[in-house]
Amino acid sequence: MRPVVNSRVLSRLEVVATPRTFAIRTFGCQMNEHDSERLAGLLIGDGMVPAASDLEADVVVFNTCTIRENADLKLYSALGQLKQLKEQRPQMQIAVGGCMAQKDRGEILKRAQWVDVVFGTHNLASAPSLLRRSRSEGPLVEVLDAPDPEANREMAPALYAVRELPYAAWMTIQTGCDNSCAYCIVPAVRGGEISRPLRDLVDEATMLASSGVSEITVLGQNVNSYGRDITKRGPLFAQLLRALGEVDGIERIRFVSPHPKDLRPETVAAMAETQAVCNQLHLPLQSGSNRVLSAMRRGYTAERYMERLAGARRGIDDLAVTTDIIVGYPGETDTEFDETLEVAAAAEFDSAYTFIFSPRPGTRAALMVEDFVPEAVIKERFERLKEVLDRSALRKHEARVGRREEVLVEGPSKRNAQMLSGRTRQGKLVHFPVTAEPLRAGALVTLDVVHGAPYHLRGELSSVVRGPRHKIRIPLLSS
Ligand code: 5AD
Ligand code: SF4
Repeated sequence: MRPVVNSRVLSRLEVVATPRTFAIRTFGCQMNEHDSERLAGLLIGDGMVPAASDLEADVVVFNTCTIRENADLKLYSALGQLKQLKEQRPQMQIAVGGCMAQKDRGEILKRAQWVDVVFGTHNLASAPSLLRRSRSEGPLVEVLDAPDPEANREMAPALYAVRELPYAAWMTIQTGCDNSCAYCIVPAVRGGEISRPLRDLVDEATMLASSGVSEITVLGQNVNSYGRDITKRGPLFAQLLRALGEVDGIERIRFVSPHPKDLRPETVAAMAETQAVCNQLHLPLQSGSNRVLSAMRRGYTAERYMERLAGARRGIDDLAVTTDIIVGYPGETDTEFDETLEVAAAAEFDSAYTFIFSPRPGTRAALMVEDFVPEAVIKERFERLKEVLDRSALRKHEARVGRREEVLVEGPSKRNAQMLSGRTRQGKLVHFPVTAEPLRAGALVTLDVVHGAPYHLRGELSSVVRGPRHKIRIPLLSS
């Protein structure tokens, strides 16, 4: 809501600035979600306020993604929808950031002349000043090939991010990727791995904890190789987990994603021995066929993956395992897909993200046009895989029935006002009936699990361990 300005007061004051409002539309992965949270914090720091809706916003920012699907179409159709709005309200500004901006740079302005600002993944912190400057200077494009240390220092603390859950924060520990998976556009767009110094990360976690954050999710394209660019004295990721585990107030640490080829015993030991690190591992399999894995340049075989998985399960008590699988990689035969089904069944995942292969411009796999798998075949394989994955998820979840779980409360369930939702230490979504004594987000409770479904659990309150640790935020907008 905009401040109501009394016209008599207005006549006495020379200038009463109404804050500009902004909206951010995010496409893509958790890294982008987190960047959007930080961007929101930066824009608020620059004097703007969140808009009640995209259509009313003075500034609309698109945080774009290139990893899958037809990102180009999505972005340009969304931009097209805003063209008319901008003609009606010329003071409106449109900015494009994220991976598409990093990749296409000035091209975006050629295809959508009504865009005001294009900024890349390395200079998110410049977005507010670019928006300000472009009001007098016209359209601006600023994309860096590598992080600017100054800009990065400014944006590093996740503390200023506008978080969806007040008690849970994301923390980016590295950007880019040094691998060359044949299907993946990330290395080309985000560049090579750059790790943030361990000290900075521990300081950031300490600041987050002192503002009441109790859960941290560590983000990186390949978290296990964290620090390889800083020191040869590894493995720094295991040290990082242990160091974060020492931070007072941080009760839960999760991370995405480790690469199976780099999952070292030291990491498993650090997970097992650091109380705050949750018993949850996201280990992307991608395919169960050794021929396909080699074509993908993943650097492991299905047998090796299963060994690593077994090692993690042996080392970490009651471990939940999730994964990513790509269906229809160019040249994938029926037999090779059956191998994926077999490995997926044997791995007994708790849940999985499944993706249909998407040719990304500039990647090796995108050139294998002759070998593209027909859409109908992919669809059928996708359904069969889903069946296998749902079956193991259901089995895993049914096995939780009767157990007492520690749950961090997220808030009211999205579908049923009579229920609250939260997450167990294994990262599982659990719904439970609203309690007589109101429970706020961030409260820690124990629940007895009474039902397991493929994508969630249901529980009943056993005890309230503590209320939320974070301070209550004064809402910026009343709606
Ligand atoms: N097509 C389909 N899925 C992809 N992924 C990455 N690139 C592609 C692509 N070109 C999936 C992988 C990765 C996840 C983040 O996205 O499974 O682990
Ligand atoms: Fe892409 Fe492979 Fe790097 Fe993951 S590890 S970001 S899939 S190149």
